[in-house]
Amino acid sequence: MKNVLVIGATGDVGQGICGELMKAGWRVIAAGRAAPKLDALKSRLAAKGSLDYVTGDVSSESGAAAMRDAALKLAGTLDAVVTTVNPDKGEPMPILQRSADELTELLRGNIVAHFVAAKTFIPAIVKGGMYLSIGGGMADFIVPGMGVANVCQAGQRNLLRIVAREARGGPVHIRELLLVSMIAGESNRAKAEPSWLTDEDCGRHVAAVLAQPDVFAGPILAVRSREQVGKPEPQPAK
Ligand SMILES: NC(=O)c1ccc[n+]([C@@H]2O[C@H](COP(=O)([O-])OP(=O)(O)OC[C@H]3O[C@@H](n4cnc5c(N)ncnc54)[C@H](OP(=O)(O)O)[C@@H]3O)[C@@H](O)[C@H]2O)c1
Repeated sequence: MKNVLVIGATGDVGQGICGELMKAGWRVIAAGRAAPKLDALKSRLAAKGSLDYVTGDVSSESGAAAMRDAALKLAGTLDAVVTTVNPDKGEPMPILQRSADELTELLRGNIVAHFVAAKTFIPAIVKGGMYLSIGGGMADFIVPGMGVANVCQAGQRNLLRIVAREARGGPVHIRELLLVSMIAGESNRAKAEPSWLTDEDCGRHVAAVLAQPDVFAGPILAVRSREQVGKPEPQPAK
């Protein structure tokens, strides 16, 4: 059985990823900052199998290293790491109304956390394994009032592009998956629209990406509709 660490496991997207990877036969190690949320997730997914978890915070190098060491102690080896964290992006507001200090703090919590996670976990993955970072469609389009999320998602995407380029030919596949949809998950299922991707859709797509790195060549992938789940993005005709 292959081992996958899911960082951000208790989030709307992370929960679907954990459940679907368990269904697909992975041994899942869930990670997040809050043990009570991880305990609740373990109970919720009990019907799908046993879930181990580690706690830790990827916003600092020491926090991420402690999480990596705890995961390796539990699992022995990591075949894949999926990072699906969504640090605070602040209340919606026009971006120029923010102070420079506030913007610095938000960028640090977001882009630096993705930098720290990539730097810490990629070297811990076995040869032929995958590091997969989950991001959002606002990397490519802007939404007034959501400027910090726009900047952070665009920054995350270029961070993963450069990490993948610098690691080309190396032992680990590196991908980012942009979710170009609202996600119907634990926090909002009641008000979700039928066209939205669900948390389980996200999990099924992640399972397909981890299983077929050559089909999902990336490094930047996107899933835009429920119909596309499990399949690579259609390429424009040449
Ligand atoms: N939800 C959507 O509609 C949607 C749409 C498009 C794209 N996405 C993308 O999907 C990804 C996940 O989003 P989400 O909606 O699932 O987020 P979420 O519900 O807010 O969950 C975030 C998860 O990350 C953990 N986390 C946050 N900061 C962390 C840190 N510094 N260290 C370790 N764990 C941390 C949280 O747990 P603790 O607080 O316990 O640590 C939680 O498990 C993001 O990249 C987001 O942009 C989401």
